[in-house]
Formats: sequence, structure tokens, C-alpha cells
Amino acid sequence: MIAALLAVACSGPVRKNVPVYLDPAKPVEERVEDALSRMTLEEKVAMLHAQSKFSSAGVPRLGIPEIWCTDGPHGIRPEVLWDEWDQAGWTNDSCTAFPALSCLAATWDREMAYLFGRSIGEEARYRGKDVLLGPGVNICRTPLNGRNFEYMGEDPYLAGAMVVPYVKGVQENGVAACVKHFAVNNQETRRTSTNSVVGDRALYEIYLPAFEAAVREGGAWAVMGSYNLYNGQFNCHNKRLLCDILKGEWGFDGVVISDWGGCRDDDEAVTNGLDLEFGTWTNGMSGAPSDKYNRYHLADPYLQRLRSGAADQATLDDKVRRVLRLNFRTGMCPEPHFGSFNSPEHYAAARQIAAAGTVLLKNEGGVLPLQVRKGGRLLVVGENAVKKMIVGGGSSSLKTKYEITPLAALQEAFPDAEVIWERGYVGDTSTSYNRVDTGQDLSESRSAEQLVADAVAAAEGADAVVFIGGLNKSAHQDNEGTDRLGLGLPYGQPEVIAALAAAFPRLIVVNISGSPVAMPWADKVPAIVQGWYGGSESGHALVDVLSGAVNPSGRLPFTFPLALEDGPLKTERQYPGIRPEGEKWWQEYYDEGVFVGYRWYETQQIPVQFAFGHGLSYTTFEYGAAKLSRASLPAGGKVTLTVPVRNAGERDGAEIVQLYVAPPVDWVALPGPPEDPLARPARELKGFEKVFLKAGESRDVTFTVTARDLSRFDADAHEWVADSGTYRLLVGASSADIRSEAPLVVK
Ligand code: BGC
Repeated sequence: MIAALLAVACSGPVRKNVPVYLDPAKPVEERVEDALSRMTLEEKVAMLHAQSKFSSAGVPRLGIPEIWCTDGPHGIRPEVLWDEWDQAGWTNDSCTAFPALSCLAATWDREMAYLFGRSIGEEARYRGKDVLLGPGVNICRTPLNGRNFEYMGEDPYLAGAMVVPYVKGVQENGVAACVKHFAVNNQETRRTSTNSVVGDRALYEIYLPAFEAAVREGGAWAVMGSYNLYNGQFNCHNKRLLCDILKGEWGFDGVVISDWGGCRDDDEAVTNGLDLEFGTWTNGMSGAPSDKYNRYHLADPYLQRLRSGAADQATLDDKVRRVLRLNFRTGMCPEPHFGSFNSPEHYAAARQIAAAGTVLLKNEGGVLPLQVRKGGRLLVVGENAVKKMIVGGGSSSLKTKYEITPLAALQEAFPDAEVIWERGYVGDTSTSYNRVDTGQDLSESRSAEQLVADAVAAAEGADAVVFIGGLNKSAHQDNEGTDRLGLGLPYGQPEVIAALAAAFPRLIVVNISGSPVAMPWADKVPAIVQGWYGGSESGHALVDVLSGAVNPSGRLPFTFPLALEDGPLKTERQYPGIRPEGEKWWQEYYDEGVFVGYRWYETQQIPVQFAFGHGLSYTTFEYGAAKLSRASLPAGGKVTLTVPVRNAGERDGAEIVQLYVAPPVDWVALPGPPEDPLARPARELKGFEKVFLKAGESRDVTFTVTARDLSRFDADAHEWVADSGTYRLLVGASSADIRSEAPLVVK
């Protein structure tokens, strides 16, 4: 017998004896069918639910490996215990922390998105992870959403354009991107008990396009259902979203993964498009001492239904096929992928992306780049200059090899100056999060007044004063599970800024946050920079921009309103939702329709603090006249729009040239009431290009426009419609700064 086996092993091409599913040379679908045909009922069901906090079982008998998931979206999460959320305390899981996705979106740079995806995918692969639980592309409907920092802003086109290269970059490593949270999950308040009531027009125009792009253009291999309900059904097993739209209209052939604990119903879990169940507490959502994985909806309850004939084989096989496909795309894919972890290239990528996303909001009198004399003094004020920001915020919290704070980076960048720090205010007082140290020294006995007085006193005689504050990742700030309570900066920061600005007129304010904040003090300070959660290299990246080593090119991915009340969410029923008499779940009505973010402000002509797409450079750009390849759009065809852009300043720099479409000039419904099905936003982003120009250089920037770019979604007909009329194609430097336009006729 042994001799016979040896003979088989040593003679002829080995492949002949390899079953199809184990043969990497065979097409994925053949491998899937072969593996499926060999599996028992019990093995099939065992594949469809968790076996630990972050893994599901493979088929050990057949050598099909487990599937390991990891958060996501901006770094590889440290290991947790098998069965609990607590850190496992490994010593080899300190990752490269990349910037939060709001920062990535602010780069408006597809190459940065690809670099991000490729790099984080390499980290995931090195750590043996098959599924990265990200990116998140939920639209910023309210500045208060605690998870805006994990998403890509308020515009579906921008988020869609950025998510595609991210997904491709991740998946090149044989790691699945799991795009989340599908769908209409736009707040954290009561996220597990709120039903989003949204019309089809807003659904298709605002909330679905980035997911659709991730699936159809990016080819995402996994999608995560969200915690909330839509159409009265939980989204982890929502028939319309998962069966009709995702797997039906978009032809998604990947795996739908539940959010952790998002699965609630035995029947719906089976019939409504869910494939892989994770995180269910066995006593509902309230917690249990330990998960009992065989009690999951897609475990024993499903097995019993299958055995009794109450559940059908075809649905089961469809789920198993999808999970097997995931196996053959990731852990069992033909190409070898080794990944890499904490490499110098990853830190360099994190720094480059974070700097590219940093937005120069205001710079009067050329206060920036920083000028500090040799032997001079630079005063830094504020907690976010010293606070480690990769820690906290919920499931995206990380443990990193290092995180350079802004203060440390300033000290490094100005070695010949005295760089001193004053606290200014006391903010978040946590010293660790899920057993990862925040690195803060919180011993502080001074009163709030004294802290301000000391900061003001230290400003005297300084060459430059930089206030570095904003939000952080604790509860009710940029944080999973809770929304913010208001638009303003917490901890009395506005008062500190006002006092410093009065004492030191050239004050520079850096706001670090993952969502828009109110800046009632903006007129009092000459320079404002939007810094984000930049990851491991956040301090270096910020200081690259402050010092002028990098010429800023970031642009806002969402509007900074003057006040929360100016926004489209006016009523409690819109946000955070109401519970009408007799209703089991909270109801949240998207009454504003498609008028989200700048679509609202521009249409209603409401002034804002800083517009969507806004951002300055240390140089200036001039736009020439936009020209169309033809005056009218041919049926089924396209036109190109070309605009010359010139770097009119003395520094090299990059401009983000933005294309917006305005509805036909005589469009009756503009600015109509939001609920009007024909009302159209005053302008909508339909293209952008980042163009690098040396000082004095000019270049033509070209956009392609098709009927789809001009269309609205007709909910009744369930199709995109480009109404006839003369549209205006607007080219500019932000949604509010249009530099040139051209009319386009649609017959
Ligand atoms: C979050 C997901 C996350 C999952 C696993 C959930 O609470 O909503 O975004 O991927 O936990 O950590």
C-alpha cells in the first residue's frame, strides 16, 4: 500500500491525481462545483456561520481552509480572543495605521485610493486575513453621524470613484474587500432599531451608487449588511437590498456577510440573501457570556429546517457556492500572495495619503507655510497635538507600531526652534481603549481659566502659534455606536481659540476630525487647516503641509455648514427618527430626498462655512474657458469637455478640477420642494481630475459626459432619465467656486 502511494506521488505529473477543487489551474467555477459535490449537508451549513469572533469554519476533511475576517477599514485590527472582543495581547499585531477614509476621500485622488487599498491588502494578507471589513461608503447625511470618519463623504460620485481603486488594490492581494454597511445606514443613534424610510429616487441617486460602483466596477467579493432596517426588514437579511438589488440588478456573485450581531431572524436569514453570519449573541443583542456558534440562525436552526424539508437545497447551495468562491479567490487562490507588514513602503504610503488629504481651508496673508526663525519659538496649543488618534472609535480602533503626534513632528521639523506645548483645555480623559494605550499624560490640576491664560501668556513673543484641536474618537464624537450631540467643538475649544486669536492675530488653527464641525471663530483667524485622523504618520503628514514640504491639494469631501440648523434635516422624524404609536421600530424618514450635503445648500442658496470640494493651495490656479466637443449630446453617445488650467503662482502644486452638472436652465422644478419627484439639485458632481502643474505650467483637463451623467432616477419607471433641455456643465474648484461653464443640449 505504502509502495503504491509512493509510486503515485513520485511518478508522472502530480496534477493528474489532484481533485478539480484543489487544482489551482482550474477555473474557479469548476473548483466550486467540484467542492460542492463532495460536501455533506453538515459541512455545508458549518461553512455559513462564525466559529469564533472573526472566523468561520472551512471544510477540514477536504482541506478547505477557514475564512478569517479583520477590521478595517484603515488598518488591520489587533487580534481579539477567540470568543470575545477583548484584545488577545499578541505581540506581533501592531499594524501600519492608514488614514481614516474621510481623509482618503479628501485626497480626491484615485491613485491614493489604489495605493491605500493595495497597502492595507498587503497587511491583511501578511496577517493571514481573507476578508478586510471595509471600506465603508455610507453617505454623510448628517454631520453628526458618529461613523462619518470611516466613510467617504457626502457625494455618491466621489465615494464611488474612490472606492473602486481601493477595492481593486485590496483584492490584488487575494484578500476580499467587504464593502459596508449596506445600506441606508447613516447614523449611529439607535442603529439596531431604526427603520430607514427612503424613496427610490434618493436610494438610487444618493445611497446606492458607491456600493454599486464597488460591486460592478471594483468587483468587490464581499458586502456587509448594516444593522438598521429598511422596508421594515433588517438589512443583514433584507430581500429588496440583497436579493433584488445587490444580487439581482447588480449581479453580485460574492458573499453577503452580516454585521456582527446584525442577524435576527431564522427564516429571513435563510431566504433573504445572507450568506455568512457573524457575531450573533445567542440571547439577542444584549450580550452573552460566550457565543454558542451552533445556535446561530444559519447553524443548527438552519440544519433542522433543511433536514425537515422546510428549507430548500438550492438556496443552501447558492450560499455555499458563494463562500467557496470566496475561498478560491482568497486563501486558495492560484497566485501566491505573501503580503507585507509594517514595511517602510506602507508607512510612506500612509504619510503620502494623509498629506494629500490635508485640506488648507483658509490662508490669509500667507500665514502658512509656517515661518519660524532659527532660535525662535513655536507655540503649539491643544490636546490633538499630543493625542494618539488611532485608538478608539469602535471597531476601527488599532494598535500600531508607532504613531507620530503633530507635536513630535513639529519638534522634528523645526530642530533649531523652541517648540513648546500648552494644553489649553482638558478634553478626553481616557488612557486606554480595549487595552491599547492612548499614550496620554493626563495629570492636570489647572482650572479651565488658568489653562487658557497660560496658553495666551506663552503666545507672547512667539514666531508662530498653532492650535491643534477638534474632535477625537471617544463617545459622542467620531465614534461608532454614538452620534455627536452638536456641530460645535467640545471642551470649550471655541473659547480657547478666541482668546488665542485675540492675543496672537496670526493664529493658525488645525481642526482634526472625521466629520464637519462648526467654526464660528473662522473669521477671527487667518489660517485654518483640516487634518483628519491620519494614522501612524499623522503628525508627519500634517507638518509636511504646515511647513510647506508638501503643497496642499486636499479638498473637502463634505460641506462644513455654518450651523446644523442650516442643513436639510429639519425635523425629528428625519433625524434621529421617531417611534409612532404602535410601531415596534424607530422610523427615520429621509424626507429631504436627494437634497443631501451641497445638493441642499447650493439649491437653497444657503451660505456655508466651507463648501464641498473646497481646499486651497500655496499656489493659485486659473481656469480658461470650458469647451465642448459638440453642442448637443448625440443619442447614446458622449461629449467631451476640455478646460485649460494654469498654475498661476510661484510654487508647483496640484489642483482638483471638478465637473458639476446643473439641470436644464428652464427646469421647472428648481428649486422645488424636496419631495417633488422632478426637483433637481442645482448642481451635482459628475467628474474630477487631479492635475499636477509646475509653477507657470498649463494643461488641458478633459472630462467625458454621457446621458447617465445628466440623468435623474425616475422611481416610477425604475430607470435613469435624461430630460431634454439645455444643461449647464460647470467646471470649478469647489461646489461653490465655479470658474467656467458650457451649455449642453439634450434633445
Ligand atoms: C461594526 C462593523 C465591524 C464589525 C466587526 C460592527 O460593530 O459595525 O463595521 O466590521 O463590528 O468588528
